[in-house]
Amino acid sequence: MSILIKGGNLLLSNSDGHSWARGDVRVAGSQIVAIGPNIEPQAGDMTIDAVGKMVAAGLVDTHAHLREPGREDQETIATGTKAAAAGGFTTIACMPNTTPPLDSGAVAAAVLQLAKEAAIRVVPVGCVTKGRQGKELAEIGELVEAGVWGITDDGNPVEDSELMRRALEYCRPFRIPVISHAEDPRLMGQGVMHEGFISTILGLPGIPAEAESVMVARDILLAKATNSWLHVAHVSTSESVELITRAKAKGVRVTCEATPHHLVLTDEAVRGFDTNTKVNPPLRSREHVQALRVALADGTIDCIATDHAPHTLEEKDCDYRQAAFGLIGLETALPLLITHLVKPGFLDLPTLWDRMSARPARLMGLTDHGLAIGKRADITIVDLELEKEVEPAKGFSRSQNTPFAGQRLIGWPVITIAGGRVAFGEVE
Ligand code: DOR
Repeated sequence: MSILIKGGNLLLSNSDGHSWARGDVRVAGSQIVAIGPNIEPQAGDMTIDAVGKMVAAGLVDTHAHLREPGREDQETIATGTKAAAAGGFTTIACMPNTTPPLDSGAVAAAVLQLAKEAAIRVVPVGCVTKGRQGKELAEIGELVEAGVWGITDDGNPVEDSELMRRALEYCRPFRIPVISHAEDPRLMGQGVMHEGFISTILGLPGIPAEAESVMVARDILLAKATNSWLHVAHVSTSESVELITRAKAKGVRVTCEATPHHLVLTDEAVRGFDTNTKVNPPLRSREHVQALRVALADGTIDCIATDHAPHTLEEKDCDYRQAAFGLIGLETALPLLITHLVKPGFLDLPTLWDRMSARPARLMGLTDHGLAIGKRADITIVDLELEKEVEPAKGFSRSQNTPFAGQRLIGWPVITIAGGRVAFGEVE
């Protein structure tokens, strides 16, 4: 199969960043074979008119929950990857808090078998501990062999510092990170939202910012001591950002991600008691959000990760205290960030693409990624002027737990090509 994308505004991937050019892109099989100002169509080419649209490397997500095996009522690899393709993603990492958990080569192989049929590429993440029980290390060697990009007990922290230290030591020769779900369970307590003015007004138990930051501090110290790679998941506090900034400056191998919801919402969103605003870590106050935005712009935050966390209506249609933590994010990540960060002039598109495509690809070791000749044909075409309402019922995810329902957003993916095949969008 061959595809010719005509007349787009190309955001080309270079070794030192991105550059704009007007032109065409030709895809043959699973590769980008030509990029240029006027490529002649060949017999059998499917032609896509991209005039007025942005054409760029596909988005990459280091952190999504696809729930399979075990919770197919929330999401499956098939539905989650369709949602991802609709959001402009061409590779996503699936998190290991499944049932059974992804703690062995056998479970990783089963997930990869299911992912063969998926709309886009799926890279698994393995567990740190067997059964996510926090007691003994998982079969890390097997997991690495199966192709995990990192290991984490995400959803839960690795409470035992000695075990965390051993996990970091074990991963060093494999050059993969331990991905920290940074949370001190005692400080978290029974909290359901950020601890502060709004939690006090609403009478809901709070989660202090330090519940995250103290664990970020611990994990940085352990990464430094073991000379290993720490990746901090869903960073949400200004103190975490400060600690990571200092650690990076001192040469500690630490990288991190932030989610779209932590970058565009504050704890004010909880005022209506919409349980779709309940997420872990919680939506923070304005000062924290501001610190995250600055860190995203200056590159301290390496990448944006959706933390797509699907939950059924039953798990969300209840009292705020009882509701499950998590919200879906694959289909809205890009338009949210274009609307709230790019359009107001806070971030430019090449920087957004660095954080949503180039850098996450680099972290995950995807050397075949980028809008350049010879790379894998993972391409997202975006209409930067398309304005649409978020309508979860019309989405591809099996779940609908988003706090953004009804919001009008601007800048949506219109076509996604993954591995040379159209994974999303209308083509002739
Ligand atoms: O809100 C969250 N939901 N945070 C997590 O860390 C896990 C996730 C889930 O799996 O539902």
